[in-house]
Amino acid sequence: MRILISGQHGQVSSELQKRLKVLGELVVPGRDQLDLAQPEQIRRQVRHVRPDLIINAAAYTAVDKAESDAAAAFVVNAQAPGILAEEAAALGIPLIQYSTDYVFDGRKGAPYTETDATNPLGVYGQSKLAGEQAITAVQGKHLILRTSWVYSAHGHNFLLTMQRLLQEKPELRIVADQIGAPTWAGTIANSTLALIERWQAGETGAWGTYHLTAQGETSWFGFAQAIGEALREQGKPCANLLPITTSDYPTPATRPLNSRLDCSRLQREWGVSQPDWQTALRECLAGQA
Ligand SMILES: NC(=O)c1ccc[n+]([C@@H]2O[C@H](COP(=O)([O-])OP(=O)(O)OC[C@H]3O[C@@H](n4cnc5c(N)ncnc54)[C@H](OP(=O)(O)O)[C@@H]3O)[C@@H](O)[C@H]2O)c1
Repeated sequence: MRILISGQHGQVSSELQKRLKVLGELVVPGRDQLDLAQPEQIRRQVRHVRPDLIINAAAYTAVDKAESDAAAAFVVNAQAPGILAEEAAALGIPLIQYSTDYVFDGRKGAPYTETDATNPLGVYGQSKLAGEQAITAVQGKHLILRTSWVYSAHGHNFLLTMQRLLQEKPELRIVADQIGAPTWAGTIANSTLALIERWQAGETGAWGTYHLTAQGETSWFGFAQAIGEALREQGKPCANLLPITTSDYPTPATRPLNSRLDCSRLQREWGVSQPDWQTALRECLAGQA
């Protein structure tokens, strides 16, 4: 099997590259060869590679920057997935796309299911939702996997920022009223591998949109506490943590207060589930050591 993966250096892409080698040949072009802002290049690459599966792990992920850069966010997050879906459908192959908890407004008092109404609060969420809609409109085989609060041992993410700041500062103020599930990119890659294996084995569930996050929930403050505890266990310095509210920490993009995603449909339809976020965090940290 030949798999085309976009987003060479991204968090999820890097973890996919480690795990999906067992399936066959991975083609992972750099941005110079597959720029999602260039529609014709996307079509050329897909037709040249002729993959058996496309995984779009690239995205415009700068949530705050997107507020003042909407056109660029929409080209990468909305237009490009639609083109990938068209090319995948023309080849009769599946497309796996990642999406986000930010398609919801966070006002629901419970975890979101796939059938809940979307209502993104910012440009990033709007552009990712438009990407979902572009893929769905093509009506080809696809999985849209909505995830949340992604971190890994590489890249730009909350884990690495906290590990640095907790050791540099005496005190840190962290938002405690946004709740969700921190999800290790390795968990996303493990579940993606399991989904592809089910498909290969002919045990395919329904194509469509699914929620895929770590199990359990916490706040950014709770996540920071867990990162701090791990630092202390390693004998490293760790700042005092103070809980604050979202309104104490204004950002250009409004974030949903409730980012919890109910992942039971993925378990039901495909038999794929994720570990709880604390277990995944420990595994990620063990890989860092
Ligand atoms: N990060 C999160 O907290 C989060 C939460 C929910 C959902 N998601 C979704 O999960 C998926 C994976 O995210 P991630 O955290 O792995 O993202 P990431 O680490 O920010 O990586 C994004 C990747 O996209 C690539 N990219 C950006 N613009 C591109 C373009 N025009 N052409 C080609 N490649 C381009 C980047 O390339 P360069 O390396 O060249 O910059 C990078 O490799 C995305 O769909 C994202 O929307 C992420």
